[in-house]
Amino acid sequence: MFIFMILGLLAGIQAQVTPVFVQTGTDLLLEVKEPVVLKEADLFTWSVNDSVHVVTLVYDIETLVSESYKSRAELSAQNHSLLLKNVQKGDSGVYRARVSADKDITVAEYSVTVLDPVSGVKLTVKLCSSDSTNVTVICSTEDSLINSTFTCDTQTCSHEGGERAEIITPGASLDVYLENGSVICNHSNQVSSTRDIQQIEDFCRKPEEISGVGFSIYRLKIYVVSIGLVIMMCAVISVHVVEKLKKKR
Ligand SMILES: *[C@@H]1O[C@H](CO)[C@@H](O)[C@H](O)[C@H]1NC(C)=O
Ligand SMILES: *[C@@H]1O[C@H](CO)[C@@H](O)[C@H](O)[C@H]1NC(C)=O
Ligand SMILES: *[C@@H]1O[C@H](CO)[C@@H](O)[C@H](O)[C@H]1NC(C)=O
Ligand SMILES: *[C@@H]1O[C@H](CO)[C@@H](O)[C@H](O)[C@H]1NC(C)=O
Ligand SMILES: *[C@@H]1O[C@H](CO)[C@@H](O)[C@H](O)[C@H]1NC(C)=O
Ligand SMILES: *[C@@H]1O[C@H](CO)[C@@H](O)[C@H](O)[C@H]1NC(C)=O
Repeated sequence: MFIFMILGLLAGIQAQVTPVFVQTGTDLLLEVKEPVVLKEADLFTWSVNDSVHVVTLVYDIETLVSESYKSRAELSAQNHSLLLKNVQKGDSGVYRARVSADKDITVAEYSVTVLDPVSGVKLTVKLCSSDSTNVTVICSTEDSLINSTFTCDTQTCSHEGGERAEIITPGASLDVYLENGSVICNHSNQVSSTRDIQQIEDFCRKPEEISGVGFSIYRLKIYVVSIGLVIMMCAVISVHVVEKLKKKR
């Protein structure tokens, strides 16, 4: 009894499931780490969810590929690794490589999750306090958003806090944080990440200041151009007048 328990424990340790996350549409290689030696009457199988036999190697000679995996699954003759091409979300599941001899031995076990890459993010300034010290930003994706508040002086900002919106996409995380004087909005899951970055100085520039400066330069240009035009016209007219006066004489 006791020995069986120890054997059970050892088997449990040996058959550790390796989690694997893979992006939709890519190829997945599931490796058998230890060399597999098959005797004449042995079967080698890669199965999913203990139900579908993806590939079966009979007597180390003939390879059978399940109908639903034809042209998508390849078994390496050298090391018994399984290559699954163009994986889709339905391919998620527990993959096991097994040698069936006198007893079954699991030689590799992976828990595979196929995920779509995350969508893009957008970081926007929602609110600036009147003195520009408190800045609330929103980090949003197609289906979720979080807002976050920063307290800034003229040079630096620190993270004040904010509420976390519900994240609808499972397995993905949305984060807002400060790094090197930039606010970063990060959307990531196990297979991909997208981010939007803004410099602190770009926040809360007073709109009146920007348009004010722009306007006065614009005005100055108009003044210079119109004064120039007036002077030119005066010159032309006076030349005309002088010429006419000369002719009259
Ligand atoms: C097993 O074989 C495949 C294809 O031949 C190769 O890509 C992979 O690197 C090999 N893995 C090991 C562990 O040798
Ligand atoms: C394996 O089982 C999981 C959960 O029951 C399911 O989502 C997945 O589609 C199955 N995988 C295959 C290849 O049948
Ligand atoms: C900025 O936020 C702090 C803490 O939330 C608050 O005490 C302070 O009054 C705010 N300042 C302005 C100008 O809104
Ligand atoms: C942050 O978002 C929550 C939930 O959408 C909202 O109730 C809260 O007023 C927002 N805070 C700020 C400062 O915009
Ligand atoms: C932050 O700044 C330091 C020093 O200026 C630099 O070494 C580091 O790579 C920067 N990190 C990022 C993520 O830009
Ligand atoms: C942000 O994105 C990087 C990849 O660019 C990722 O490694 C990191 O875990 C993400 N950070 C957070 C806090 O989500």
